[in-house]
Amino acid sequence: MTQQSNTDEIKKGLAGVVVDFTAISKVNPDTNSLLYHGYPVQELAARCTMEEVAWLIWNGELPSHDQLLAFERQERAGRALDPVVKRVIDELPTTCHPMDVCRTAASVLGARDPKAADSSREANLAKALALFAAMPAVVAYDQRRRRGEELVEPREDLGYSANFLWMTFGVEAAPEVVRAFEVSMILYAEHSFNASTFTARVVTSTLADLHSAVTAAIGALKGPLHGGANEAVMETFEEIGINPDESHEDAKARAKAWMDNALAAKKKVMGFGHRVYKHGDSRVPTMKAALDDLITYYGRPEILGLYDGLEQSMDEAKGIKPNLDYPTGPAYHLIGFDIPTFTPLFVASRIVGWTAHIMEQLENNSLIRPLSAYNGPDERHLD
Ligand code: ACO
Repeated sequence: MTQQSNTDEIKKGLAGVVVDFTAISKVNPDTNSLLYHGYPVQELAARCTMEEVAWLIWNGELPSHDQLLAFERQERAGRALDPVVKRVIDELPTTCHPMDVCRTAASVLGARDPKAADSSREANLAKALALFAAMPAVVAYDQRRRRGEELVEPREDLGYSANFLWMTFGVEAAPEVVRAFEVSMILYAEHSFNASTFTARVVTSTLADLHSAVTAAIGALKGPLHGGANEAVMETFEEIGINPDESHEDAKARAKAWMDNALAAKKKVMGFGHRVYKHGDSRVPTMKAALDDLITYYGRPEILGLYDGLEQSMDEAKGIKPNLDYPTGPAYHLIGFDIPTFTPLFVASRIVGWTAHIMEQLENNSLIRPLSAYNGPDERHLD
C-alpha cells in the first residue's frame, strides 16, 4: 500500500473547507447565530409564517402583501396528493421507512413534471413551489396509511402548517400546536452547506434536474448523523421510558442516570453535537421555547424532565450541547406524530433550502469534483 504525497491536504469530512459562496443563509458559530438572507431566524420564527419564510429563502426578500397572497394561492392549489404518487405509495410496504416514501414520491413527482428538464430559474421556482406544496400530503398520508386510516383531503382555508396537521390527523389543531409546529418548520428550512444541501448542490453541479437533486438530498438527510437524529432522540426517550404520570424531577433523575451510563459506555447520543456549532445550536433556544409551550399545552412535565436530565448530564460530562433535532423529537411526539415520520417532517421544510441552493448553484455553476489520495496497491499486472 502506498500513500500519495498530497495527504496533508486531505480534509476528512470536508471539515472546515469553504466550498463556495452562498447568499441564502449565514451560520456564525461564534455568535450562535443563523440568518436567512440577513434576517435572524429567531425573528422570522417569532413573526413570520412558513410561507413568508419560504418566499424569503427563494427570493431574497420578504414578500409584499400581494406577492404573499398570490404565493399562498399557488401553494394551496398544489396541496392535493397526486393520484399517481398515491398509487405508488399504496404499493410500498409499510415495513419501509417513511423517508423511503418521501424519496420515492419526490422522484415520481419529477418523472411526472412536464417541465422536469427545464432548468430556467422560472421553471425551477415553479418546481420548488410544487414540491413544497405537495410534500405534506405525502408525509401525512404515509403516516395515516400505516395506521390503517384514509387520506384526508387538504383544506384551502388553512395556512401551510395548520393544513399539514389537518391532513395528518384529520382534526384542526389548536393554535398553540400549529404555532409550535410552524416554528419547527421555519427553523428546519435552511442551514447553509449541511450534508443534504451539499448533496443537492453536487447533483445540480452535473446539470441534473431539480427533482434528481432533491431526491438525492432526501437520501442524505435520512442518516442518523443528520436529519435522522430527531427520530433517534425520541427512541432514546422511549428507551429511558416515558411515563406521563411521573414528576419532572423523577424523570430527570432517570434520564441523568441513563446518560451517565451511555457516556461511560462511550455511546454517541443522538441530538447532541454539531459539526459547525461547538457552543450550542443557534436554533435550539427558539425550538426549546416552542417545546415548552407544547409541554404546557399537553400537561406533560415528565417530558421536560427527560429533556433536562439528558441535556444537563451531557453538558456536565462532555460540554456538548443539543442540536435542533433534540427539541424537535419530543415536540413532534407530543403533537402526535409517529417516530418514523419525524425526519420526513424535516424533509417537508428543508425542500425550501435545498431548492434555493439548487437555483443558486445553477446561477454560477462549476462541476463539484474533488480529488482523492490513492492508498490502494501499487500498479500490478495480470500473470
Ligand atoms: N454524543 C457523544 N459524544 C459526542 C457526540 C454525541 N452526540 N457528538 C460528538 N461527540 C464527541 C465525539 O465522540 C468526539 O469525542 P472524542 O474526540 O473524544 O472522540 C467529539 O465529540 C467530536 O465528535 P465528532 O463526531 O468527531 O464531531 P463532528 O463534528 O464530526 O460530528 C456530529 C458532528 C456528526 C453531528 C456529531 O456531533 C454526532 O454524531 N451527533 C449525533 C448525531 C446528531 O445529533 N446529528 C444531528 C446533527 S444536526 C441536524 O442535522 C439538524
